[in-house]
Order: sequence, then C-alpha cells, then structure tokens
Amino acid sequence: MKSISIIVLTTFLNFSFAYSQNHYGKNGMVASASTYASQAGLEILKDGGNAVDASIATAFTLAVTWPFAGNIGGGGFMIIHTGEGEVTTYDFREKAPLASTKDMFLDENGELKSGSNHNTALAIGVPGTVAGLYDAHQNYGKIEWEKLLDRAIQLAEFGFPLPQSLAKDFFYFAEHPDEFPEMQSFIKRDGKLVGFGEYWKQPALAKTLKKIQKEGKKAFYEGEIAQELVNYLQTQNGIITMEDLAQYESIERKPIHSTFKDYDLYGMPLPSSGGVAVTQMMNMWDHLDEIPKMGSVQYYHTLAEIMRKAFKDRAQYLGDMDYAEIPELDKLLSKAYAKKLLNDIDFEDAGKSDSTDVQLFSEGHETTHLSVMDGSGMAVSMTTTLEQGYGVKMQSPKLGFLFNNEMGDFNAVPGKTTNSGQIGTPANTIEPGKRMLSSMSPFIVTKNNYPFLVIGSPGGRTIINTVFQTVLATTVYDYPMAQAIEAPKIHHQWLPDHIVYEEYKMAPETLKSLEEMGHELQMRSFLGRLMGIKYNAETGFMEGASDSGSPDGGVASY
Ligand code: DON
Repeated sequence: MKSISIIVLTTFLNFSFAYSQNHYGKNGMVASASTYASQAGLEILKDGGNAVDASIATAFTLAVTWPFAGNIGGGGFMIIHTGEGEVTTYDFREKAPLASTKDMFLDENGELKSGSNHNTALAIGVPGTVAGLYDAHQNYGKIEWEKLLDRAIQLAEFGFPLPQSLAKDFFYFAEHPDEFPEMQSFIKRDGKLVGFGEYWKQPALAKTLKKIQKEGKKAFYEGEIAQELVNYLQTQNGIITMEDLAQYESIERKPIHSTFKDYDLYGMPLPSSGGVAVTQMMNMWDHLDEIPKMGSVQYYHTLAEIMRKAFKDRAQYLGDMDYAEIPELDKLLSKAYAKKLLNDIDFEDAGKSDSTDVQLFSEGHETTHLSVMDGSGMAVSMTTTLEQGYGVKMQSPKLGFLFNNEMGDFNAVPGKTTNSGQIGTPANTIEPGKRMLSSMSPFIVTKNNYPFLVIGSPGGRTIINTVFQTVLATTVYDYPMAQAIEAPKIHHQWLPDHIVYEEYKMAPETLKSLEEMGHELQMRSFLGRLMGIKYNAETGFMEGASDSGSPDGGVASY
C-alpha cells in the first residue's frame, strides 16, 4: 500500500529528473508532449503535408494519447509562419456560454462558491479546438483534411499501451470514485481499470473523430456530436446550448509583433496575455545598460523585477479586447513605456508589490504545447488546454472526450483583488460570449524572415515567464534548444510577492543572495514543460527538444 501511495503522490508532483536532449533534422520536425503525436505529425510531413497539416495531426493525436491536456473539448492558440515571411494566428479560445453571468460563481454574500468555477459543469467554456484546427486547415493546409485524423482515429480505435504517467492518474481517479464519478467510464473498460502497459482503446472517441473526419467542424458544432454534448451537459446542470455551439467561431488575428536586436518576435494577441506580457518584458530587457551573466544573482534579480512590472499591467488591464476596452494596449507594447518601467527598477534591492487596486486568481498547471517546422520554413507554434489536468473531469461516454474547465480563467469575484493572487479587474470578468484571459504564450521568433525559434509551454501564468526566459537563453545567450529549455528558471507574477524557483536547479548561494536583496522565495518542483525548435541558418539544421519534465514528450524529425 505504501508504494502505491508513493506512486500516486509522484503523479501529482510530477517528478522527473531526466535531462532532455537535442534532436536534429533537416526536412521537418515535430516536438510535442506525446511521442505518438509527434510521430503522427512527422508522418504527415513525410506524406507531403506542410507544418499546418502536421500540427493538426499532432493536435488530434494528443487528444487521444495525452488526454491530460490534449483535447477536442477545450481550446487554444496557434501561430503560423508561412515560410514566406508572413505570420498569422488562430484564436480558438473557449467562450463563455450565452447564459453565463458575471456573478454566476458567487454565493448570496458575494463570495466565490468554493470550487464552483473549476469543478462543476458551469466551469465549461464553449470548446474551440475543432473550429480552430479546421479553419487553419481551410486557409493554410496543403493535404486533405481526412488524412490528418487517420492516425488519431487508429490510436483511439485499436488502442495503445497506457503509459505510466496516465496509468498513475487513472489509478488515482479509480481510487476516488465519489470525487470523480464521470471519469470512471473514461478509465475503465468492462468495469475494469486499464493499467500501465495495457492497451487503452477509446471506441467512443474514435467514432466522434470519424464524424469530424468526414464532416469537418460542422459535425462538432451542429450535428449529432453537438446534440449529445448538450444533452449530456444538461444532466450535469451545464448551460451550453446548441446556439452556443452554432455561434462558436475561431478567429484569425494579427500577431503581436515586436523587434529585439536582429530578431522579430511574434506572439498571440488578446485574449491571450502571453504576447503582450512577453513583449513588454523583452522590451524592458532591450533597454538594460548592462547584460547580467546568465545564471548570476543579478540575472535572476533583474528577471524578477521585470516580471513584477509586466504582471501588474497584465492584472490591471488585460482581457478579451472584443468585449473590454483596453485603452492602454499600444502604450503597454511600446519601447518608450518599457524604458519608463525599467527606470523604476532598483537593481540592488527587491521591489515591492501591493494590491491596493488589483486582484489575481489561481490557475491550473496543465496545458500542452507543440512546435512544428517543415522543410520550406513554414512553422507552427500551438498551445492548447483543458485548463486543469483532464479539465472538469467530465465526459459523455457516448462521445469519449473530456470537457474543459476554462471558465475558471475569468475573474470570478468582480472587484476583489488580494495579496494571495486573486484578480477582480473588469477587463476579465464574465460576459456571455466573451473569451477568458489566457497566459498561453506560443511564440515564433524569426531572423531574416526565417523561423529561428518555435516555442511554447504549459504552466498557467508561469508559461509567460518560462517562454520569456527561453527566448532570452537562445537570443541573448546563444544556448542550444535543450539547454535553453532545461536552464534553471524563476517565476514572479507581481502577487503573491515572491520568486518561485525550481527545486534542485539553482545554487543555494544564489538563493541566499536573492534573499539578502529582500526577495521572498518559494520552491516548486518545476516550471513549465517547454517544447521547442531552434533553427540554425548556417548549418540548415533544426534543433528540437522536449522538456525533461514532460513524461511522454518527444521530438520526431527527418
Ligand atoms: O489559458 C490559460 O492560461 C490557462 N487555462 C492555462 C492552464 C495551464 O497552463 C495549466 N498548465 N499547465
């Protein structure tokens, strides 16, 4: 029994001490959180598909082999570099159902009903993934849509050996049937828990994917799938209707573009806060008089102070710009404003965060990123999520896929900001049809109009900072991909006012010096699970790596 509880514990702490390696390719590369999914993407590249095609095949396969975060019941963001120097993005973020209200998660005293914005069917946003993948293919794909789902369907229908990471979670769900009643039919076959190494077949999901393969996004938003989705959610007191699904649209948006030395940086616009926040931080870094040595005390202090500034603005101003007025956006992105923020930083002592006028909410830590590059220089950086691991942990056994709990990303208590990290600013309060603010930060960095870095990560608000530090490691410090991904990272999000650091990675002397400067420190087992591709224009080789913290991650290339 003792060893069993240790197994369960490690699942949720996600220990992993392996070190990731660089992989190389000349003609195409896919990095994702599942080796099956990376392989599925590579097959598409080899069959003549472009990076967009491959990213779609990878994403659908992740929905089968990495249900922790891969999904068709959630949403995400995708940046596409066309290979001809053009960059565009797809926003397929979930939307608040039409029947939602700004205080739907509050009790009669105006307090948050504990857990209601994450653990009930009300937490489910209208899913966007199928629309996003379908629309991106319509406009940028090269080979037939049907082909892109073949491998995912095969893996769902015939099964695959359940990896240890999923097996441990499934075991935990099986041990807690009262807490996770809707997960039981997901993890059991003929009433028996599927265990490590046993073939896990998902016939219902295979059927759902076949319909999407045949009819495209219509199957999901208008057809039988939509009807069953609505019927099922009604049994759970959910509020998503056929009208919500019919109205869902992915949006092609202009990326947030900035420059940094010889590089062009492309990030997601709102409702992802990632593009704005990383751009702001890179702009501040660009104004530094002295570049600190990588890994030095001064390096981490500078990072923490820059993060503090960007995260305060994020909390104060950012939300879905289609619904909220964001009057400060151009200013936030300007180099002049970054210089002003930087001038305010004390390079000797820790600054102070206070919450007199703003408020932040806790986010989950489970999302997934994939990076793809093909031989023509087309690249895709895509991050998708169910919000928490396995989302709201509900699924219709007839459909076979899990639903998100993304409504938890809205500011649930309007007007309330606390030092522990709750935000209540109006830009991100709930409105029918609005998209919740995200931290997902897929990025593409180019040099001479050609992809240089294709990067992203899970990790809630830590995503923004892990991506920021990985961009710095590659553009400023010339680190290879795996080394940039594995480099010790920190996280500061304004409130709570402390530096989060990765266990075992930073020297005790560095931590001590940071404390002496006045920083409070908090340890975490890891920050982010990056997937990245770096391109070397001189050798013509792509260099890819998947974070050692990603238990089933892998890079496929040729
Ligand atoms: O969109 C967001 O920012 C969050 N729902 C993402 C959650 C997350 O990254 C958890 N990750 N590891």
